[in-house]
Amino acid sequence: MGKALIIGAGGVASVVVHKCCQNPEVFEEICIASRTVSKCEALKEKLQGGRTKIQTAQLDADDTEATAALIKKFGPDVVINVALPYQDLTIMDACLAAGVHYVDTANYEPKDVAKFEYKWQWAYREKFEKAGITAILGSGFDPGVSGVFCAYAQKHYFDEIHTIDILDANAGDHGYPFATNFNPEINIREVTAKGSFFENGKFIETEPLEIKKVYNFPQIGPKDIYLLHHEEMESLAVNIKGVRRIRFFMTFSQNYLTHLRVLQNVGMTSIEPVVYEGREIIPLQFLKALLPDPASLGPRTKGKTNIGCIFTGVKDGKKKTYYVYNVCDHEKCYKEVGSQAISYTTGVPAMIGAMMIMTGAWKKPGVYNVEEFDPDPFMDALNKFGLPFEESFSPELVD
Ligand SMILES: NC(=O)c1ccc[n+]([C@@H]2O[C@H](COP(=O)([O-])OP(=O)(O)OC[C@H]3O[C@@H](n4cnc5c(N)ncnc54)[C@H](OP(=O)(O)O)[C@@H]3O)[C@@H](O)[C@H]2O)c1
Repeated sequence: MGKALIIGAGGVASVVVHKCCQNPEVFEEICIASRTVSKCEALKEKLQGGRTKIQTAQLDADDTEATAALIKKFGPDVVINVALPYQDLTIMDACLAAGVHYVDTANYEPKDVAKFEYKWQWAYREKFEKAGITAILGSGFDPGVSGVFCAYAQKHYFDEIHTIDILDANAGDHGYPFATNFNPEINIREVTAKGSFFENGKFIETEPLEIKKVYNFPQIGPKDIYLLHHEEMESLAVNIKGVRRIRFFMTFSQNYLTHLRVLQNVGMTSIEPVVYEGREIIPLQFLKALLPDPASLGPRTKGKTNIGCIFTGVKDGKKKTYYVYNVCDHEKCYKEVGSQAISYTTGVPAMIGAMMIMTGAWKKPGVYNVEEFDPDPFMDALNKFGLPFEESFSPELVD
């Protein structure tokens, strides 16, 4: 069918590459481009020989011109951005310059302000419309599948959705005293930021990890969950008409939180530069260099994730509740693609988002969040490509 340029060669990119190679009817050719080209070459080495042809390239995606030049040279149908959120805007600019569709998994945030919101990328709507190309924002699991689940609930089960609780549980154990499951810098910025939830038309801010509850997850059991700010709440508040409350909760172990508190107390999670032996360093970036590489957690991680959405609302005049979720097993993911479940649950939907564009199922000029498209072809693809969903019509609710 066509070609995809994959930017980034980390934990998530590795899963995207594996999944594109499992889907050669759609992805006839891919190019893996990243800052450290040896990582791209290692992926090529591992996966070449199948029906999907693989190329590699060295690329600094902070450089729009170099990115546009690579896009023009390779000639893909779509660019899958699985580098870091800092590169979103330069890659979108390059897609505009080359006239090629765009997919990512995390919204733009400036390096020096730990604040992620869609305003920077939504500002590209008109430019993408005029250029006749599609940008799909946040096609990972959360954001990503969480938004597709909302569109699916809206389409099939509700006349009105009143509340949405997005629950992200990771019951995996990697055996390290402290490590993050995806890029440590992005992960710690997210967890240490203020929390927020949407209620009656506005966002209400909380202190970081201020709201804690316990939820008994299917196939995982009871876990402590903490309310976080999460980017999909911003688009869902706009796109799920009439919704009254949206919350996002994530599980953290006491051990993780104790380590994080100590690191925060001594200043190691700060993004303010400090001068050390005459050189400016950013403590959080130094910490990243010390922590285990998330890509190395695959062989060590045991247990499961459960990520899904609980809805309350009304159908045919009657009150209704609905829970849709996916359970993913870290060890099974490792066996299949050599990665743990956090990279897997992000990489599979990133491939599917690109596939939606390439097959024409989700193609309209402009910049969109996933819940703005028909969820059915995406949900079918989740079942086919390793993230089957499960449903409950009488779930336990979060209080
Ligand atoms: N939506 C979701 O559910 C979800 C969940 C988890 C993660 N994510 C997102 O997925 C993305 C990838 O995460 P990850 O865990 O795979 O991170 P990672 O392992 O740190 O990989 C990031 C990759 O991007 C490359 N990169 C960084 N800056 C670059 C630049 N200027 N030019 C070209 N390449 C560059 C890195 O190159 P080097 O190898 O040289 O460092 C690395 O290969 C992040 O944006 C993360 O926020 C989304």
